[in-house]
Amino acid sequence: MASITHVSSVTAVGFTVRPPELLGSIDQADDVSAASIVPRSRRCRTRHTSGVGEADPSFPYTPSVHSDIAKVLLTAEQIATRIAALGREIAGDLERLGPSDGIVLVPVMTGSVIFVADLVRHLPLKLRIGVATVSSYPGKSTSSQGATIVGQLPSDLTGRHVIVIDDILDSGRTIRLLRDAIEAQKPASVRTCVLLRKPTRDAQSTPCDYVGFDIPDEFVVGYGLDYDDHYRNLPYVGVLRPEAT
Ligand code: IMP
Ligand code: MG
Repeated sequence: MASITHVSSVTAVGFTVRPPELLGSIDQADDVSAASIVPRSRRCRTRHTSGVGEADPSFPYTPSVHSDIAKVLLTAEQIATRIAALGREIAGDLERLGPSDGIVLVPVMTGSVIFVADLVRHLPLKLRIGVATVSSYPGKSTSSQGATIVGQLPSDLTGRHVIVIDDILDSGRTIRLLRDAIEAQKPASVRTCVLLRKPTRDAQSTPCDYVGFDIPDEFVVGYGLDYDDHYRNLPYVGVLRPEAT
């Protein structure tokens, strides 16, 4: 199995989003309000007066998923910019790793679906995708109940460069569990990539090769991350209003 010890030196540590500059209130994050996904022709003229939490009279669905959001941590634009940079970094590293029996991305269901869909479009390499399902935050949990692999992992990883892709690194159990299970298949290399990482000791002490953003220690939703399987479709990452949980 090829050594991957050099990886830490090229690890993307992301950038920390520090309040109050980027941790916008819903009013500051006007660019990711419901209006951004409503066709311009159908937007309400007064839509931008008070931000995400306000019902949009021109939006046909009630209630809008945006109305449960207290604040936006990362806008759609910030996420898109960072993912393009991550893609360039990962593609460069994979090219430098040299030949293998192929590249396999292993996105962790269901939270990483949106992230991986955007990331692969910044990876102009020949690759396969084989999903893994891990259960750790069942139902209305907002803390890990322990990670368990559900169903089968991709079974053809021997000799391949594998990248595990998850939405968020919190206790680190998911990433550690999958890394160990994949290493048992004797791949050429295993790397890990998360969109978000929390500041907790467990998260920070879990080796991870690519990190999109370091975020505050809050339960977040959107861009694939859920609460009770909802909110994955938000185009940004935000924090729920307390009354929504
Ligand atoms: P870990 O195994 O504790 O590192 O947690 C990883 C998994 O927990 C992620 O794949 C998410 O599904 C879930 N998770 C952790 N923190 C959050 C959060 O703030 N919001 C939503 N899901 C989370
Ligand atoms: Mg998940």
